[in-house]
Amino acid sequence: MGRIAILGGTGPEGLGLGMRLTLAGEEVVIGSRRPERAARVAEEGSERLRSVGCTRRLLGAENGRTIAGADLIVLSFPYSGVRELLPQLAAVLAGKVILDLVNPLVLEKRVFRTAPLPAGSAGEEIQSILSESQVVSGFKNQSAEELRNIEKALRGDVVVCGDHPEATARVLQLIARIPRVRGVDAGALVNARSLEAITALLLNLNRRHRAITSIEILGLPPS
Ligand SMILES: NC(=O)c1ccc[n+]([C@@H]2O[C@H](COP(=O)([O-])OP(=O)(O)OC[C@H]3O[C@@H](n4cnc5c(N)ncnc54)[C@H](OP(=O)(O)O)[C@@H]3O)[C@@H](O)[C@H]2O)c1
Repeated sequence: MGRIAILGGTGPEGLGLGMRLTLAGEEVVIGSRRPERAARVAEEGSERLRSVGCTRRLLGAENGRTIAGADLIVLSFPYSGVRELLPQLAAVLAGKVILDLVNPLVLEKRVFRTAPLPAGSAGEEIQSILSESQVVSGFKNQSAEELRNIEKALRGDVVVCGDHPEATARVLQLIARIPRVRGVDAGALVNARSLEAITALLLNLNRRHRAITSIEILGLPPS
């Protein structure tokens, strides 16, 4: 498989996933709006990886410069970046598989909920901006804290959805390389609405029970 670029990978979610994928043997580049920050965070991640005996390194570069050599691009920035960053990158992202992690959440009266979006979900909005790319929504319900805790195996299921079966298969193949977690194909991208709402629920559970929750789907036939 080709290189993986993580736009906004300097945040805890992207860096956590980047470390997990590097441990799984993938070549990962952390992207940032500022190249020096990308380099510093990639070095911090590489040090964490060394501490668990992994000699592979994370690379770092400005967001736009991570894309050329990558065949899978992870979007791991806040929802505000969807409109600020993606329109200018649409041409270079054409033909690429896009893994969307974005949760458009708001906190109102101490309760998380999804922001009402005209497109229905961040995943659908991203697909409409990146109309020549193949968007798969996934890892929306995996907390950064769990991803970053690389001493421990990830828990739960990674539910993914998208309107391009080959792209979804590519992401499921990637998930299969991460020990212990299971990738679950939810079908069409419209399911991103539900994945994003589940994240709001998990965050409300986390606050209420002082926990880090995740999801696991019961009743599926063995794959
Ligand atoms: N945190 C979690 O537990 C979690 C769980 C599941 C999904 N997610 C989703 O994953 C995404 C990343 O989460 P996170 O907690 O890592 O986010 P974050 O720390 O708030 O942001 C990640 C990075 O995005 C870049 N960024 C910030 N604003 C931007 C903008 N307007 N345009 C472009 N880039 C911008 C910043 O990097 P530079 O300044 O270096 O460019 C920042 O380090 C979010 O959409 C979140 O909803 C998070």
